[in-house]
Amino acid sequence: MKTRRATAYLQPALLLLAMLFAFPFVLYAVQFGQGGLRNALPEPHYIFSDNATANIGIFTHMITGALVTLLVPLQLFPSLRAKAPRWHRWSGRIIIMSALITAVGGLIYIGLRGTIGGTAMNIGFALYGVLILIAATQTVRHARSGRISAHHDWALRLFWLALGSWLYRVHYGLWYLATGGLWSNPQFTGGFDLAQNIGFYVPYLIGVELYLARKRRPVHRHP
Ligand code: HEM
Repeated sequence: MKTRRATAYLQPALLLLAMLFAFPFVLYAVQFGQGGLRNALPEPHYIFSDNATANIGIFTHMITGALVTLLVPLQLFPSLRAKAPRWHRWSGRIIIMSALITAVGGLIYIGLRGTIGGTAMNIGFALYGVLILIAATQTVRHARSGRISAHHDWALRLFWLALGSWLYRVHYGLWYLATGGLWSNPQFTGGFDLAQNIGFYVPYLIGVELYLARKRRPVHRHP
């Protein structure tokens, strides 16, 4: 009983912590995105080019991505879901729309300009975008059809994917702190850089699948 009560507090506490730590990245992404869209970046940046479509795609994706990163932890607060279902639904709609725009914007940029890290990074990031598209679509599809268990499963996948962009920076920060940047270079072709191309979402998705498989396992009770 005590353990259950402790877990009930642990989940919101961890979600709040994630929001708090991710907030500087949210601000950074909004700042970068709006500066790029207005052609008013404080310094020239390789992401900005004379390809207007690529610019609109990538800088819009930063703003909508920031919104997703900010809002997605709130969706998992059980008390908010129960006490404010209208908030849950509206915030959910905003997250889904923003996630779709984020993924499409990133994919347009990859298609038109390619990432700084070349083919391996293009593939890793494109797969990330496609997975976000799938998870966002499935989350809303199951909610609309009233399949709440499937909705929860996909929402959990979307949650970890949505935090992926922030986790990418967290991994780099911790790695540079621990190793000074071993197997990493400005061209993003070092061993660590290559692992990171999928390392910011694949391990978390595996974790989610293991968790869901465990949850689905029938509980055998002795008669
Ligand atoms: C989930 C929320 C997301 C946020 C907040 C976000 C934010 C950002 C930011 C701020 C940058 C600039 C990188 C820098 O710091 O210099 C960036 C770059 C990029 N993002 Fe995202 N992003 C998100 C999701 C995605 C998704 C889903 C895709 C995949 C389609 C994607 C593809 C890219 C690409 C291709 C770049 C440029 C990489 C390069 O060549 O430097 N992002 N993103």
